[in-house]
Amino acid sequence: MSLELANKVMQGSRDLFPGLRFDVYANHASISPLSEPVCTAINEVMAAQAREGVAFFPAEVARRERLRGQLASLVGTEAEDIALVENTTAGVVAVAGSLPWRQGDRVLVFSGEFPTNITPWQQAARRHGLELVWMDADDFRRDRAAALEAFEQHLAQGVRLVAVSAVQFTTGQLMPLATMGYLCRRHGSEFFVDAIQAAGIVPLDVKTMDIDYLACGSHKWLMGPEGVGFVYIAPEKAETLEPNLAGWISHEDAFEFLTGGPETLRYDRPFQRGARMLESGTFNSIGCAGLEASLGLIQSIGVETIHAHVQTWLDVLESQLLERGFESARMPETENRSGILSVWPPDHRPAADWAADLAEEGISCASPAGWLRFAPHWPNAVEEVASVVQAVDRILAR
Ligand SMILES: Cc1ncc(COP(=O)(O)O)c(C=O)c1O
Repeated sequence: MSLELANKVMQGSRDLFPGLRFDVYANHASISPLSEPVCTAINEVMAAQAREGVAFFPAEVARRERLRGQLASLVGTEAEDIALVENTTAGVVAVAGSLPWRQGDRVLVFSGEFPTNITPWQQAARRHGLELVWMDADDFRRDRAAALEAFEQHLAQGVRLVAVSAVQFTTGQLMPLATMGYLCRRHGSEFFVDAIQAAGIVPLDVKTMDIDYLACGSHKWLMGPEGVGFVYIAPEKAETLEPNLAGWISHEDAFEFLTGGPETLRYDRPFQRGARMLESGTFNSIGCAGLEASLGLIQSIGVETIHAHVQTWLDVLESQLLERGFESARMPETENRSGILSVWPPDHRPAADWAADLAEEGISCASPAGWLRFAPHWPNAVEEVASVVQAVDRILAR
């Protein structure tokens, strides 16, 4: 990274987002705007393909190796445990579609979750005769100790797999991943985590959290483009997956026949070992280039530093909103907090109306499932909170 770029990658600086239309962009839990280095990386790949045709491809294969390594270090593992996929959903579908299910297996899911982490399990249940067991994710926010007790009781009755989002997309609750993972291990359950609301803002470590499978997309807290994501598979679990979704790139030496003799065109090559088996066909090089660039920026600051910066921004906004009668869903303990502050407005107007009014005031936020959700990231300056509060006051006074 050049010195000039390093100077711009400062928390609270929007220098790398010169075209961003909103005065305050607090919507990273929805879709992140693309920074200049990300756009440059994307444009370079497009120019290379335009110029080179197929000759652009080897550099992109090499980039994917680098990207797997970057993503692996983000979640505390090795590059060979990472497969690049299109989005979070593709990661969930890949795992749900490749597990060697037994009829009657029980899968523990959570109401309140984003549907990404429900639909594929429902479909697996339909196809394989599984039983879905439901808990309410919000119980872990209201009374975490009681919820964990109930969680363990479910596990004690026999659960094949637990599927949870690291951060709940509505309330921003950071789930007790390490405790859940530990309990899963103790009771012989597998642990699947949807990490898209966490990776890039909350430190993650698949090893200490006993996570067996993790899926994540690029376009929220990783600040990359849409259409690229990754899935982590613990090495011992990768051995057990069935190649139900395998394609030509899932094989070892998949590219050999492209330059080899007629005898190299074979259909009996073994499948790649580990997570790689889940990569099936040609890929999104443009997305990978953008994600590589955005990860570089995030890693140059550090996820823990970003988390602390975002908490300061949210602390200031939360206290001002509480004074005005908003109700906050934020967890009281810093270690249970994510990058999201969700509130209920005091005037009981729908959150979607509030978000629309704030957008007119130049502030981008979201209104998922009735919550008014603020989600800033490293480029948000704490000073901008004052203009959010002024806009809120204007809206309340209408
Ligand atoms: C928890 C969670 N999972 C998944 C998604 C989206 O998944 P995908 O990357 O497949 O679009 C979202 C988007 O808001 C989300 O909040």
